[in-house]
Amino acid sequence: MTKRRILIARAIHPDVVAFLKQHFEVHTNDADTVWSPEQLAQQLQGMDGVLTTSSERISAQVLAACPQLKVVANMAVGYNNFDVDAMEQAGVQGTNAPDVLTETTADFGFALLMATARRITESEHYLRAGKWSKWSYDMFAGAEVHGSTLGIIGMGRIGQGIAKRGAYGFGMNVIYHNRSHLSPALEAECKARYVSKDELLQTADHVVLVLPYTPESHHTIGAAELAQMKPTATLINIARGGIVDDAALAQALKAQRIAAAGLDVFEGEPKVHPDLLTVPNVVLTPHIASATVATRRAMGKLAADNLVAVLGGELPLTPVNT
Ligand code: DGY
Repeated sequence: MTKRRILIARAIHPDVVAFLKQHFEVHTNDADTVWSPEQLAQQLQGMDGVLTTSSERISAQVLAACPQLKVVANMAVGYNNFDVDAMEQAGVQGTNAPDVLTETTADFGFALLMATARRITESEHYLRAGKWSKWSYDMFAGAEVHGSTLGIIGMGRIGQGIAKRGAYGFGMNVIYHNRSHLSPALEAECKARYVSKDELLQTADHVVLVLPYTPESHHTIGAAELAQMKPTATLINIARGGIVDDAALAQALKAQRIAAAGLDVFEGEPKVHPDLLTVPNVVLTPHIASATVATRRAMGKLAADNLVAVLGGELPLTPVNT
């Protein structure tokens, strides 16, 4: 029997490539190029399935150009790179990679919060530049983390992981805002209290964004929301670019309207708003919240398992459409 053909759209862990080769005729992108939609559609000719990352946009145009495509397995929990309606219409199954990255991503969210509040990268740059000549009481004095108020917007699995780290590890008072309330049992487990978005912005010392990107969550944080935050507050975005208005944030940071920000994701990444690159009170990382060797391998394996299931006539493990 001829093997089904799949494309792995970007470089992934070699163990996962080897696993997929046991099941399919595998086509790879050895140069790890981020293809344009036209190039992607071209590469997808004759493919039954594709393993994507959040960089590959699966649009109606791409789907129209590839009528034989049956499944797109995203190696990411977020799938705002999918046009889910168009996939639904084209009868293409989409899948994502939740759960396997939850704890790793929550670890990173907390690391970014710590680095931002305690000014770790800013002070390291100062030291490396040879500017450190004496100890002084207020040198890089930052914001308290332990015992402070942690506000989480988006209380899915990763948000809950961050809440637990804050509540149990750092004795933080955890408040959250979400589309829906957690069950009383989950609220107790996370030691978290539901509040309105306004209350969260006005009272949190550290605001962490962990919500999915949708048309409704576009610019959840803009100039008006930044104006509501405490001048001593920090803002952390590990969700998606576009949830924050980066131009408004750069202005607020420049004017010290809020104390600092930590950003792992950006509007239009890998481009970064030029003003963010010039302000000192922001920690910038290149979308690496889930980047540990083990987790990236696990994300690839879950995407691969979804391809094997769907092309083998089974139900997907983690579908995003029906
Ligand atoms: C995710 O899984 O959504 C991460 O942001 C990687 O894209």
